[in-house]
Amino acid sequence: MIVTLLTTIASLAAIGHATPQKRATDASAYASNSAGTYKLTSITAPVQGSGSPGSESTWKLTIDDTSSGHKQTITGFGAAVTDATVTSFNTLSDATLQQLLNELMTSDGAQFSLMRHTIGASDLSGDPVYTYDDNGNEADPTLSGFNLGDRGTAMAEMLATMKSLQPDLTVLGSSWSPPGWMKLNGVIDGNTTDNNLNDGYLTSGGTGSTGYSSAFAQYFVKYIQAYEALGATVDAITIQNEPLNSQSGYPTMYVFDYESAQLIQDYVGPALADAGLSTKIWAYDHNTDVPSYPQTVLSTASEYVSTVAWHCYATDVDWRVLSDFQSANPSATQYMTECWTPASGTWHQAADFTMGPLQNYASGAIAWTLGTDTSDGPHLSSGGCDTCQGLVTVTDTDEGYTLNTAYYMMAQFSKFMPPGAIVLNGTGSYTYSGGGGLQSVASVNPDGTRTVVIENLFGNEVYVQVEMGSGEVWSGSVPEESVTTWVLPASA
Ligand SMILES: *[C@@H]1O[C@H](CO)[C@@H](O)[C@H](O)[C@H]1NC(C)=O
Ligand SMILES: *[C@@H]1O[C@H](CO)[C@@H](O)[C@H](O)[C@H]1NC(C)=O
Repeated sequence: MIVTLLTTIASLAAIGHATPQKRATDASAYASNSAGTYKLTSITAPVQGSGSPGSESTWKLTIDDTSSGHKQTITGFGAAVTDATVTSFNTLSDATLQQLLNELMTSDGAQFSLMRHTIGASDLSGDPVYTYDDNGNEADPTLSGFNLGDRGTAMAEMLATMKSLQPDLTVLGSSWSPPGWMKLNGVIDGNTTDNNLNDGYLTSGGTGSTGYSSAFAQYFVKYIQAYEALGATVDAITIQNEPLNSQSGYPTMYVFDYESAQLIQDYVGPALADAGLSTKIWAYDHNTDVPSYPQTVLSTASEYVSTVAWHCYATDVDWRVLSDFQSANPSATQYMTECWTPASGTWHQAADFTMGPLQNYASGAIAWTLGTDTSDGPHLSSGGCDTCQGLVTVTDTDEGYTLNTAYYMMAQFSKFMPPGAIVLNGTGSYTYSGGGGLQSVASVNPDGTRTVVIENLFGNEVYVQVEMGSGEVWSGSVPEESVTTWVLPASA
């Protein structure tokens, strides 16, 4: 059963990439490091065989690059396009913006192919909060007042430009709050009292008045259609960002697991289908510490949901939760859809929240956020995050922007593991409790080349020897405190 499924995925991936790039015949290596002296920099390539470690300590990895080692298929990597991102990017000159978007979306740079965006206001929006149907906060059950507004339009246009640069782009839209009039508290950002959809599910478990359930579903239909009309195809949505996170001061909404499941099964799923939309619905969009939530959604709304979105903010986040989820739900697809990249983070923070999920069946990872100005904004004056640095900071300098360490960390994966790549099983990754260690993940790519991403957490160079399931051995130096990516030719 699993073998059949993997074969199907592999052949679909092959069909989706019918014109593979020319196969590399030589190995190559690129690194980005803690010191910032390597930024996707070409370094000495690994060699076949056990190489010459010299005085360097060696570290052995195994990778099963035969078909028995095939795991999940990659969709991509990227970051969240927030209002802060769109606002700050649009202050750049046309030429500088073009250069930046080329770096983000094409082979000029990271070649991101999985972007999330915020539907209406999030905490990374300037004041005031808004949705696409505020209607003076009068109830509007027919959504006659629906409109993207200036900010929604600018966001759709930015995503459309990204899509034109990266045809393989997958876009996930996530809502922070529906219009205030749909909620029991009547506001987009209030406090935690009655911060729920007015849908009858709060106390009755779905048996009471259905309130604005239908309007809530139609809100997503109208949003997807409006974005499509501007050239921004929305491939998937989550109906609520962080449904267990009810906060004052910024847009949030509490949604129970059974409520989410029934809203999708009875309203949002059928509404999208009736409108002829192929947009997928992903479950949950929250931390790894409550896996029962997405399990309830997948079990109850299985007709419409087969994908789970996870965030990184659980204390001592343990990505093995995703492997456990995969064991219980072998046909589920999983993503790491949000983790912040504050300036105060370690150099390898973004590498960690990409590596860990990939090692545990995620098909991609998304940072929060793609870009901000130099004040980590614009952001709401009340609540939310005021230290959410993006992968990109728009500056007042002549260059116009800075690509932060987190950008390079994600690019070390994104640039070399294209959509359709298949992650390979492997062993040998280990991190010591006191720091130090080596983490790795590998893929076989649509053109047959193989990618090995190695994160060296030691303050010294390490000589890495990789034994492949196909029988080959590849060896090379991995610089201290770096993420290094090897691209190996197709196995002979
Ligand atoms: C991955 O490798 C481990 C260790 O060799 C093995 O126990 C496991 O079954 C393998 N999993 C897959 C999906 O190949
Ligand atoms: C929450 O907001 C409501 C409505 O504005 C208000 O009546 C209530 O006192 C607030 N509760 C708290 C705990 O601030």
